[in-house]
Amino acid sequence: MVGLAGEWLTATANTNMFTYEIAPVFIIMEGLLIKKMHELIGWRENEADGIFSPGGTISNIYSVLAARYKFYPFVKTKGMAALPNIVLFTSEHSHYSFEKASAVLGIGTENVITVKCDERGKMIPSDLEEKIVKQKEMGHVPFYVNATAGTTVYGAFDPLAKIADICEKYGLWMHVDAAWGGGLLLSKKHQFKMNGIERADSVTWNPHKMMSVPLQCSAILFREKGLLQACNQFCAGYLFQPDKFYDVTYDTGDKTIQCGRHVDIFKLWLMWKAKGTCGFELQINKCLENADYVYKKLTCRENFELVFPGEPEHTNVCFWYIPPSLKGISRDKEWNDKLHKVPAKIKALMMEKGTVMVSYQPLKEKPNFFRIVLSNPASKKSDIDFLLDEIERLGHELEF
Ligand SMILES: *Cc1c(COP(=O)(O)O)cnc(C)c1O
Ligand SMILES: *[C@@H]1O[C@H](CO)[C@@H](O)[C@H](O)[C@H]1NC(C)=O
Repeated sequence: MVGLAGEWLTATANTNMFTYEIAPVFIIMEGLLIKKMHELIGWRENEADGIFSPGGTISNIYSVLAARYKFYPFVKTKGMAALPNIVLFTSEHSHYSFEKASAVLGIGTENVITVKCDERGKMIPSDLEEKIVKQKEMGHVPFYVNATAGTTVYGAFDPLAKIADICEKYGLWMHVDAAWGGGLLLSKKHQFKMNGIERADSVTWNPHKMMSVPLQCSAILFREKGLLQACNQFCAGYLFQPDKFYDVTYDTGDKTIQCGRHVDIFKLWLMWKAKGTCGFELQINKCLENADYVYKKLTCRENFELVFPGEPEHTNVCFWYIPPSLKGISRDKEWNDKLHKVPAKIKALMMEKGTVMVSYQPLKEKPNFFRIVLSNPASKKSDIDFLLDEIERLGHELEF
């Protein structure tokens, strides 16, 4: 509700984030919240930097852009032809926005090296190090590692401190994509899952996910002040006159790759004022409790199986429903092919009936599985029971 009110006021003001004179209050709010988010990450530098962007994908692109500029400032004028063959690393469970960033920035998707994950979807640090060494032997230049706090499918948290050690050892930029997991920094109970994030050079954090801010609201945060400005500024004379009567460092618009920019900050600022950090904390803890409830239910219901062992770290819970017709027969390739079809069939029935909807996907060689993601604190245990009962009701007679 508060977020919605923020949207309305934003639309009513209908202003633009490029310069201070056009959006003074919103620019100041943006600065305040970037500072607040820096503190929550645990960065000690007192000068915060960052920008709100149109989504996590764009925030991730900003991080690669700024990192590349940090190592090769002449890329801005000379282009990629003046650079060695640079490569970056990300986990095999990464969101596809990483490959997209490499394609957009002219780095090329073949220069995105994927690092292996363990059974819970966490990046394996020793594999990262081996791949860095191997790339160097091939004459390539590693420059950037993307770690994830809350992967898209499993909700896994990469071992950030270990990854930070490796980045330090080889002098690489460390990015943490906390688009999904960032909200957990607001919870005293769950923030330990991101230990090590304070050693990152940049962090993506989407308040429009776990903090339930209306779309769109995503921040890209930098530890080094001024880099983003240097990387992206073009000093257009009609907008960013240096001789204005006020402190022109408030004209943050030249840090972006856009010109005009939507006001995404006000609804977040208003929600933060209304709920306080502890309001967000309660909301986030509630979602994680719900995920734990799903997990516990699944472990004791007969026809359900978890995709990865152990309690969920975030609110993603991945599982298969095994219809009675597939029980008690050997789990060969044919069986897998049949199981693969189950979620699509059940989902189609759900949509025909109009009762609920839940997503599914395959992952590597694993057959399609259901993935519940809880980010609405208003979800109740009875909603979860209903969902699981509905899967059972629609699925128990499936035959192949
Ligand atoms: C959602 C997500 C993204 C993309 O964010 P958008 O705002 O949808 O562009 C990137 N990385 C992770 C880990 C995500 O969960
Ligand atoms: C980093 O990894 C995450 C998820 O694993 C992914 O969402 C993101 O797109 C990756 N890329 C960048 C550039 O941060």
